[in-house]
Amino acid sequence: MHQFLRSVFRVIATTVIGSELVSCSLSYVSSGNVTFPKLIDVTVEDLAQGLESGLFSSVDLVNAYTARIRQVNSTLNVVTELNPDALSIAEVLDTERANGTLRGPLHGIPILIKNNIATSDKMNNTAGSWALVGAEVPRDSHMAAKLRESGMVILGKLGLSEWANFRSTNSSNGWSGYGGQVYAAYHPHQDPSGSSSGSGVASALGLALASLGTETSGSILSPSNRNNVVGIKPTVGLTSRSLVIPISEHQDTVGPMARTVKDAAYILHAIAGVDPRDNYTSAIPNNGTIPYYPSFCNFSALSGVRLGVPSNVIEIYMSSAANPSNPEVEAFYDSLEILKAAGATIVENANYTAFQEYRDSNSSNVIYADFINNLKQYLDQLTSNPNNITDLESLNEWTKGFPLEEYPDRNTDIWETSLSLGWNNTAPEFWEQYQQNLYFGGEGGVLGALDRDNLDAIILPTSYAAGVPALVGAPVITVPLGFYSFDAEVVMNRRGDLVATGPQVPFGISFLGRKWSEAQLIGFAYAFEQRTMTRNKVQPFVVPNVELMDIIAD
Ligand SMILES: *[C@@H]1O[C@H](CO)[C@@H](O)[C@H](O)[C@H]1NC(C)=O
Ligand SMILES: *[C@@H]1O[C@H](CO)[C@@H](O)[C@H](O)[C@H]1NC(C)=O
Ligand SMILES: *[C@@H]1O[C@H](CO)[C@@H](O)[C@H](O)[C@H]1NC(C)=O
Ligand SMILES: *[C@@H]1O[C@H](CO)[C@@H](O)[C@H](O)[C@H]1NC(C)=O
Ligand SMILES: *[C@@H]1O[C@H](CO)[C@@H](O)[C@H](O)[C@H]1NC(C)=O
Ligand SMILES: *[C@@H]1O[C@H](CO)[C@@H](O)[C@H](O)[C@H]1NC(C)=O
Ligand SMILES: *[C@@H]1O[C@H](CO)[C@@H](O)[C@H](O)[C@H]1NC(C)=O
Ligand SMILES: *[C@@H]1O[C@H](CO)[C@@H](O)[C@H](O)[C@H]1NC(C)=O
Ligand SMILES: *[C@@H]1O[C@H](CO)[C@@H](O)[C@H](O)[C@H]1NC(C)=O
Ligand SMILES: *[C@@H]1O[C@H](CO)[C@@H](O)[C@H](O)[C@H]1NC(C)=O
Ligand SMILES: *[C@@H]1O[C@H](CO)[C@@H](O)[C@H](O)[C@H]1NC(C)=O
Ligand SMILES: *[C@@H]1O[C@H](CO)[C@@H](O)[C@H](O)[C@H]1NC(C)=O
Repeated sequence: MHQFLRSVFRVIATTVIGSELVSCSLSYVSSGNVTFPKLIDVTVEDLAQGLESGLFSSVDLVNAYTARIRQVNSTLNVVTELNPDALSIAEVLDTERANGTLRGPLHGIPILIKNNIATSDKMNNTAGSWALVGAEVPRDSHMAAKLRESGMVILGKLGLSEWANFRSTNSSNGWSGYGGQVYAAYHPHQDPSGSSSGSGVASALGLALASLGTETSGSILSPSNRNNVVGIKPTVGLTSRSLVIPISEHQDTVGPMARTVKDAAYILHAIAGVDPRDNYTSAIPNNGTIPYYPSFCNFSALSGVRLGVPSNVIEIYMSSAANPSNPEVEAFYDSLEILKAAGATIVENANYTAFQEYRDSNSSNVIYADFINNLKQYLDQLTSNPNNITDLESLNEWTKGFPLEEYPDRNTDIWETSLSLGWNNTAPEFWEQYQQNLYFGGEGGVLGALDRDNLDAIILPTSYAAGVPALVGAPVITVPLGFYSFDAEVVMNRRGDLVATGPQVPFGISFLGRKWSEAQLIGFAYAFEQRTMTRNKVQPFVVPNVELMDIIAD
């Protein structure tokens, strides 16, 4: 048997024997008269309550999650590095709680972050590239600092598509030289999608409460889609990018990936806000005041709202697909009944008027050009840069010469395209393309559709949702919607080494809005989630089975 399958079967076997099969569908595990929340389903509120009542400590949580990571990592390669300081951080947070200092609802709760969000500690920040192993940053990224301030324990760094999928045209999602190939947990050898691949898998399996991902165009939404989790892609500028390895200042954003909308809302609230080091955050409305996102989780939030379906977007994607009968689209249209029953009005033909023009354009030139400048700005901030990578040219050269980067089998064509443009984001050519992109995403895209039909949000199958809002930095939230059936055809990825879609592979529905409309979108997503609870309908085939009970009994 293939090594991969053998270890997978071992994990299944222990799941079945170790805790009766039936407990898979329960949310709690019991030891005597004490009931612990199951870590694959647990929420922020469950953990906060258990910590507050003394049922378990933050140290227990770190131990339990670390054990769960060790159970699955050899099969799925999800976690690139564990934080060697996690236990001592948890101890401090437990002490704080004991002496009456509570930082908030996230106090003492472990989270994992994508390996392009820098921490000024013993962990590396590499975007999955050997080029940056050992590189040092002058301080925590604003994201890491906000997580710590909220009391979250940064437990480790997650695998990703190398350089957030901005290097190669023929690599695989979730592969990086430094982290190896991340696999998703709903089908053997499942493509985890990307580029926040590990972030999707880790949240799905409860390897921490949740995770952070980053998105330039699809990198939070797409792995959330394929890993059965909720992903919030915030408005560009709501969450600071300082000391996050960049692709494009115009499109990059950092957001939570979690099992529930409310958990994602708690984390978004913790990380959003003005950072003088990222002046896109100066555009946050209301003088930088962040709404309390969890309070928008209202079962009635869809009542009286107008939701638009850009039918031409779905039609154009379908007509260019190999297989036009698409279960994701069928499930999407079926879900309109649920939305209507929740009080929403559905407006079909809320089309993106410039969608075909956008598809035929060179809109990606904006991110190709941004990368040249934004990469250099990041590298210039490093306080230690062992391989002397100073710009895109030197990165390209170094990567091609370093065998573990698997060049040319995984090419550097995206960088070659950037370099062959002959201009960067300070050039007149850039401005022209950027203005065109603002039209494709704005009047000709999602913003125009919202305004023309006086809509509160646009809805789409998540597989079709990301590209257009990315151009204007508008927010999107994806929620689990369904799964491919047991007898679905297995479709491989472009490289032929991963299962892109097939039996039991999950997918989602997306809610798209105007810039800074996260609070409303969270309400809509929550109201849909609570009526469907799709996430619970299929279990991953690899499930870590260490629970708090096992840790506390030791
Ligand atoms: C469990 O039972 C023991 C013995 O009766 C008791 O002392 C303890 O308080 C109970 N714990 C909880 C959490 O109810
Ligand atoms: C997880 O697996 C990957 C690939 O084998 C490895 O590089 C990494 O160190 C492992 N992580 C942990 C926490 O052991
Ligand atoms: C509570 O504990 C923390 C961590 O040990 C410490 O920094 C803080 O000063 C303590 N606060 C009080 C009020 O004792
Ligand atoms: C970071 O990379 C160095 C190699 O430079 C390695 O020795 C170290 O273990 C890494 N840190 C962690 C937390 O894995
Ligand atoms: C951000 O600030 C820098 C200087 O720190 C400036 O060059 C740049 O134009 C500003 N960008 C925006 C979008 O305001
Ligand atoms: C905006 O926020 C800043 C910093 O918190 C504060 O100094 C300023 O007074 C606020 N302005 C308004 C109009 O509220
Ligand atoms: C929930 O939404 C409904 C419908 O919009 C509204 O009437 C109600 O006040 C909201 N509840 C809360 C607690 O905000
Ligand atoms: C919207 O797109 C659909 C599907 O392509 C098309 O049938 C319809 O005529 C379009 N509606 C408008 C108002 O453009
Ligand atoms: C896109 O760029 C290519 C190469 O520079 C050029 O040939 C083509 O005309 C451009 N297409 C559009 C729609 O601008
Ligand atoms: C961007 O282009 C300008 C004009 O050609 C050039 O002076 C500058 O060095 C370039 N910046 C980077 C980071 O390559
Ligand atoms: C990087 O540059 C420094 C200073 O020029 C030099 O001492 C060092 O050998 C270089 N390292 C590599 C890996 O080229
Ligand atoms: C990837 O592309 C490069 C050329 O850019 C080619 O040499 C290499 O064989 C390709 N890899 C695969 C697996 O097709």
